[in-house]
Amino acid sequence: MSITVVVGASSGIGRAAAIRAAEGGSGVILTYSSNEAGALETVAHIQGLGVEAVALRLDLGDSVSIRGFRAAVEQALTQTWGAQSFTGLVNNAGFGGGTMFADTTEEQLDRFYRVLFKGPYLLTQELLPLLADGGAIVNTASNSAATLGLSEGFSAYGSMKGAVVVLTRYLAKELSRRGIRANSVSPGPTRTPFAGGAFETMPELTADLESRTALGRLGEPDDIGPVIAFLLSDAGRWITGQDIEVTGGFNL
Ligand SMILES: NC(=O)c1ccc[n+]([C@@H]2O[C@H](COP(=O)([O-])OP(=O)(O)OC[C@H]3O[C@@H](n4cnc5c(N)ncnc54)[C@H](OP(=O)(O)O)[C@@H]3O)[C@@H](O)[C@H]2O)c1
Repeated sequence: MSITVVVGASSGIGRAAAIRAAEGGSGVILTYSSNEAGALETVAHIQGLGVEAVALRLDLGDSVSIRGFRAAVEQALTQTWGAQSFTGLVNNAGFGGGTMFADTTEEQLDRFYRVLFKGPYLLTQELLPLLADGGAIVNTASNSAATLGLSEGFSAYGSMKGAVVVLTRYLAKELSRRGIRANSVSPGPTRTPFAGGAFETMPELTADLESRTALGRLGEPDDIGPVIAFLLSDAGRWITGQDIEVTGGFNL
């Protein structure tokens, strides 16, 4: 039985990944932080496919919330599937926003660290006993950690995403003894509610990003979700320790 935990699936890329995993027959435990209505919409969509889904609240910026999360997942597994373990983990939750290096405050830096790196690190540790041998992890990184074509203002955000890519390689190495694979995806600019809906409110930003994308448009959540689902699936069984850029050729 396949069951996937998708962290941050109340909208955007996480929702698309959860739906695509469910289309492949996987039950889904998904999380939200503030947008419960969005999480319930994702659940309803998945249930409409005839697949079980459960939404749980999780604040990745709070290690107490993370430490209590294993018990909540255990309960959902038992009650909904009569299962003791799940097979896939997608560390996708995140928030964005740019500040020039010289202006970034310690508080901003700490928040990026807590939610984008420390959170997924501790959560993966916390859930590891429930992840079945032979399972898979996919972390959502970002092309803001790429070596070329950087935009100014993302030193904190991009550095945490770079750390996620490195962490993914260590996970792939250490968890291989249990047959667990770990990969990351690095989306480019993708039309989601991310960064306060900047893509909707700043058309000039969107035009610039589109002109820098070989395929000539912004990404959509469903350009990324199927790639995450593929990496989780048996079709991805020989891929581990990789970061897959999913950008339509951003800065190519
Ligand atoms: N969109 C892009 O252009 C882009 C590009 C590269 C990488 N990414 C990455 O893609 C991932 C998904 O983002 P998205 O674009 O799909 O944005 P999104 O639609 O805003 O989704 C973000 C998800 O993360 C959750 N989340 C945010 N802060 C959280 C916290 N402190 N604790 C727990 N959950 C939290 C949100 O939950 P609630 O809404 O319920 O609070 C939501 O489910 C992020 O890691 C982002 O960095 C996005």
